[in-house]
Amino acid sequence: MIVTIDGPAAAGKGTLAAKISQKYDLAYFDTGMIYRAVGLKAILENQSPENETAALKIAQNMTFPLMMEMSKHPDFRSASGGSAASKVSAIPSVRQALLQMQRDFAKSPRFPDGRSAKGVVYDGRDAGTVICPQADFKFFITATPEVRAMRRFKEYQQKGLALSYEEVLSQTKERDARDSSRSSAPMKPAEDAVIIDTSTLSVDEVYQKVCEIIDSK
Ligand code: C5P
Repeated sequence: MIVTIDGPAAAGKGTLAAKISQKYDLAYFDTGMIYRAVGLKAILENQSPENETAALKIAQNMTFPLMMEMSKHPDFRSASGGSAASKVSAIPSVRQALLQMQRDFAKSPRFPDGRSAKGVVYDGRDAGTVICPQADFKFFITATPEVRAMRRFKEYQQKGLALSYEEVLSQTKERDARDSSRSSAPMKPAEDAVIIDTSTLSVDEVYQKVCEIIDSK
């Protein structure tokens, strides 16, 4: 079984994907991690994430183990890490270089401990449209920029990061604009995706809704 969960930053995809993977015993691929790994590596190598030659070289050498290694860096989940990810992800050749690795995961999905899984949950922007158009279930999870920025702002506060709500809101809007306007695989719901606006829903309400849809088939 393949489930894709796409949507903008801080819409609740990650939490939902983790719960779905647990309930249905599916492997989980957070595809944003590969773009974060490429973007962060560019920064650490003193390259601009918008420099195609540098970003492409990093993308061509990106592997699962390297991505996992990069994810331990303190800036991996930071606002600057997200921004760098969004910049490298807007380069078509970089997306192309990372496509096969994402598709291959569905052919032999594995849990982090190496056990093989019967299926996969993808969390991303183009999982239902580009990576796995053949997915059994496609969801597009969204919320207003203000609600998503407030969620991120609270997360940052808990981590002790000094960013104002206004700064987080402007970063959220900037990332949305870049993700949806890029020429290659722009973020948009697949035609056969179920769209869920989580602005006024709790994590549990979204989870129940998705489980009902999966269980009904
Ligand atoms: O989901 P996350 O916030 O970790 O993703 C970081 C960035 O990577 C996104 O803002 C988006 O630009 C990019 N991304 C993408 N395609 C994906 C996953 C993430 O372009 N499938």
